[in-house]
Amino acid sequence: MSDFTGKRVIVTGAASGIGDATVRRLKAGGAHVVSLDRNAPTAEVDTHITVDLADPHSIDNAVAQLDGTFDALLNVAGVPGTSPADTVIAVNVLGMRHLIESSLGLLEPGGSVVVVSSSAGYGWPNRLETIKELLATDTFEEGAAWFAANPQKGNAYNFSKEVATVYVMTMGVALNDMGLRINAILPGPVQTPILEDFRVSMGEDNIDGIATLLGRHATPDDIASSILFLASPNAGWVNGTSLIVDGGISGVVLTGLVPTPEI
Ligand SMILES: NC(=O)c1ccc[n+]([C@@H]2O[C@H](COP(=O)([O-])OP(=O)(O)OC[C@H]3O[C@@H](n4cnc5c(N)ncnc54)[C@H](O)[C@@H]3O)[C@@H](O)[C@H]2O)c1
Repeated sequence: MSDFTGKRVIVTGAASGIGDATVRRLKAGGAHVVSLDRNAPTAEVDTHITVDLADPHSIDNAVAQLDGTFDALLNVAGVPGTSPADTVIAVNVLGMRHLIESSLGLLEPGGSVVVVSSSAGYGWPNRLETIKELLATDTFEEGAAWFAANPQKGNAYNFSKEVATVYVMTMGVALNDMGLRINAILPGPVQTPILEDFRVSMGEDNIDGIATLLGRHATPDDIASSILFLASPNAGWVNGTSLIVDGGISGVVLTGLVPTPEI
């Protein structure tokens, strides 16, 4: 268990799954935790602020309620590909970006931003120029307009996680200039409420096949411990990159040992 005594941490998605496990570990490690979620968390937090990450005005309102400075901003909230495509992009990309860029000034030097992206974003190199076009938009609204004018092939969830992974890569040097770091976690399937939606949007065979290969799905705690590693000084020179936390599945898929799933 990492020691977070006296550390002040903002966690989105704290009401369920990976965010819930992250909050429980943070509290056990002595942190002061502020939850940002559309739902109230069941885990103990110091403050909960209700926010809709699909709405930039709601995010602005939440940021205005943040009191003091922070050591970490952990962006865990996300929606699956069973949600409408514009909502998926709004929550998983544009709202996350809006929150990060509105809160950077609240982070103490040495502070860390973590983004929970996904191994489902593994296809980013094939769409890099398109992803950079979206990331070249300056505001939430411009990003939403870009996506409306440039609908993408396939599952919007995969695209959203490709963009989230690339966003983190593009921001590392800028955050270093501010004395901060930013990194992504790329989980494979995790046993949380969202997994049932993934079985619908990515195919039962694909999701269940991974559990067959590995013996189980990840637990929320498997992912929370890696999020907190990236947020901690132990990862002090890790910046602008991704940590795959998937029990090994990406390694065999990306090297072609196991066929790429059609998700
Ligand atoms: N579970 C998996 O298999 C898996 C795999 C890879 C990546 N991920 C990613 O991990 C993150 C956490 O997912 P999880 O598995 O804990 O899912 P979950 O459904 O258990 O939790 C998602 C949380 O996000 C919050 N949220 C969703 N939309 C919101 C909005 N508009 N405004 C504010 N809060 C909102 C929900 O209220 C919930 O607390 C997501 O970004 C997800 O894409 C999950």
